[in-house]
Amino acid sequence: MINQHSHRKDEHVSLAEYFNRANHHDYFDQLRFVHQSLPETDYQQINPSTKLGPLTLKWPFYIEAMTGGSRQTGQLNAQLAKIAKATDLAMAVGSESVALQDPKLIKTFSIVRKVNPKGIIFANLGASHSYQDAQKVIDIIDADALEIHLNVPQELIMPEGHRSFHWLKNIKSVVSNVKKPVIIKEVGFGMSKETLKQLQSIGVKYANVSGHGGTNFAKIENYRRPEKDLSYLEKWGLTTPESLFEARPFEPEMKIIASGGIKNPLDIAKALALGASAVGVAGVILHSLLRRGPDKTIQMIKDWQRGLKIIMTMLGYKDIAQLQQQRLLLSPSLISYLHQRHLT
Ligand code: FNR
Repeated sequence: MINQHSHRKDEHVSLAEYFNRANHHDYFDQLRFVHQSLPETDYQQINPSTKLGPLTLKWPFYIEAMTGGSRQTGQLNAQLAKIAKATDLAMAVGSESVALQDPKLIKTFSIVRKVNPKGIIFANLGASHSYQDAQKVIDIIDADALEIHLNVPQELIMPEGHRSFHWLKNIKSVVSNVKKPVIIKEVGFGMSKETLKQLQSIGVKYANVSGHGGTNFAKIENYRRPEKDLSYLEKWGLTTPESLFEARPFEPEMKIIASGGIKNPLDIAKALALGASAVGVAGVILHSLLRRGPDKTIQMIKDWQRGLKIIMTMLGYKDIAQLQQQRLLLSPSLISYLHQRHLT
């Protein structure tokens, strides 16, 4: 099973883990909730489920796209699926393009559906693929939705990456031909209102802004370069809170998903309060799985679920729709960002 693509998948996992600590930024500390002493709520009555078009997610956060495509990452996918099943979380697989090139690798993705037959699972593919390919990767895991990732900086820093980026027409074709919800997602560089406008103009209804602040593919791909000469690009991108503000004018017609640097239930609550309909978590869950194993990761996620309900109870909001209306206090640097980007 060792080919160039499988090797890259293994490297992404080990480098994401290697840089895990260095990747921690606290951009969500630029936001605060206002404490309320009389919330008039009941922990037992909190409803944490969220709607994503036709899909109802029992929890508003899910395991974001990471992996598959090698023996080792197939095993990780099986473990992630077990975790998703035990905690009622939705889950995305990593890019399935390697399975289109080498059918032997299909099982490193389809294992996820085998382990979790009734779960909500998202397929994943790059933006240069045809809608026929998109349908194939949906079928491989009987997916409930499809994620199409945008990763221009990653490709350009990757020595073997793409160099030409005319994706809009292609995305339009995928969005108009695929019957399942199609989520256009970044991979940790964030999304601007200009990008979201382009996506809106071709009929995109779901966007995951996946911002800077967590897993850093500029860093990971630069490390894989023999010259390691592009380190000055490691801070490239909009943070997840900045991206969520960029996305606000597009809601509710466009459903916005947050990811990038989510490290606890308070970050999840803040992302929801900035209008997100759901929140993806990748690096922190991978780190827990690799360091502490599936059972402790299940425990961590259950703690997060309890934590999120505690936060909602304190704020006085009994469902996600109410939390999405919450106003947050912003740091001076975020206020300056909003002024410069005409987002106030
Ligand atoms: C990723 N991510 C990713 N995204 C995607 O759309 N397709 C992919 O194949 C991958 N592969 C991948 C591998 C590994 C090891 C990691 C950690 C991440 C990106 C991921 O879905 C997410 O957008 C970013 O990681 C930001 O979220 P975190 O990690 O900061 O929570």
